[in-house]
Amino acid sequence: SQDQYILAIETSCDETAVAIVKNERELITNVVASQIESHKRFGGVVPEIASRHHIEQITVTLEEALQQSQLTIDDIEAIAVTEGPGLVGALLVGVNAAKAIAFAKQKPLVGVHHIAGHIYANRLEEEFEFPLLSLVVSGGHTELILMKEHGSFEVIGETRDDAAGEAYDKVARTLNLPYPGGPQIDQLASEGEVSIDFPRAWLEDGSYDFSFSGLKSSVINKLHNAKQKNEEILPVDVAASFQASVIDVLSTKAYQAAKAYGVKQVIVAGGVAANRGLRKVLHEKFENEDIQLLIPPLHLCTDNAAMIASAGAVAYRQGHRAGYDLNANPGLDL
Ligand code: KG4
Ligand code: ZN
Repeated sequence: SQDQYILAIETSCDETAVAIVKNERELITNVVASQIESHKRFGGVVPEIASRHHIEQITVTLEEALQQSQLTIDDIEAIAVTEGPGLVGALLVGVNAAKAIAFAKQKPLVGVHHIAGHIYANRLEEEFEFPLLSLVVSGGHTELILMKEHGSFEVIGETRDDAAGEAYDKVARTLNLPYPGGPQIDQLASEGEVSIDFPRAWLEDGSYDFSFSGLKSSVINKLHNAKQKNEEILPVDVAASFQASVIDVLSTKAYQAAKAYGVKQVIVAGGVAANRGLRKVLHEKFENEDIQLLIPPLHLCTDNAAMIASAGAVAYRQGHRAGYDLNANPGLDL
């Protein structure tokens, strides 16, 4: 039998990314052109700027991925692309590039959900065993997703307000840290002490939903009050205490859901999966359990196209095909 190569494109936010995956699970190339530097001075991603960067970078990134892989488009079996959710103008660039290649080279086209991609990043490292639970924590999402088989996603809990990464970014802004704030807080937290008792939103008994806006406001109020009273509080301690609260809720709910649903694996996905504190606490929680914990290496946690190729390869095998009318869908459901 012949090797099968899937080429994937991801442009949902501020990374222009192209990757090639062989036989569903082997990563061949993973090219990511980051725009973080261009958005930094605005303290967040500016959609208009993101789209313009994607249009400049997409062809160069494609060329780079093919060159690195020493493959040509003719060797590629199918083109996978993130169709949503994300910024519409950003998504459109990737969707159009994928359609152009599929049309010109008569290749099958597969649309991929960005979150399915984050989950499937882990399959490049370890084969899935079902049922599995995925904790998806990114700048736009905080969800607990149950998977009983490939391509099936059941959301059992989600945030009712801010996403975990969003809370990180907002707290970082209040502390005058540059965008994106997650890695900055993560670093400060490792140097500080958990000395402030910030709230934890457990919500109703048995709920796997999350809420981070109360915590965010509490941190902002604490800093504001301290300033007014000329009271000194160390940013490292604020970071450590905020992070402790986020990690406590995320890890406790993930643990409870994993036990309740009798899963074989727990997968952590999305940019916040890069958080060192979260990784450590989850490892401690699951080390004595008969549940395998999977957390992707750092380069597969944040946005990339390898994860889209991984999810796209499975969708392709399952017969999913997009037509030439494929459109960007910023609010796409999983
Ligand atoms: O998955 P991602 O790259 O993009 C989205 O799909 O949103 O996630 C980006 C988010 C940002 O909010 C960023 O601050 C957060 O992930 N993040 C982190 C860390 N690295 C990235 N949050 C906490 N600790 C980190 N080490
Ligand atoms: Zn993402």
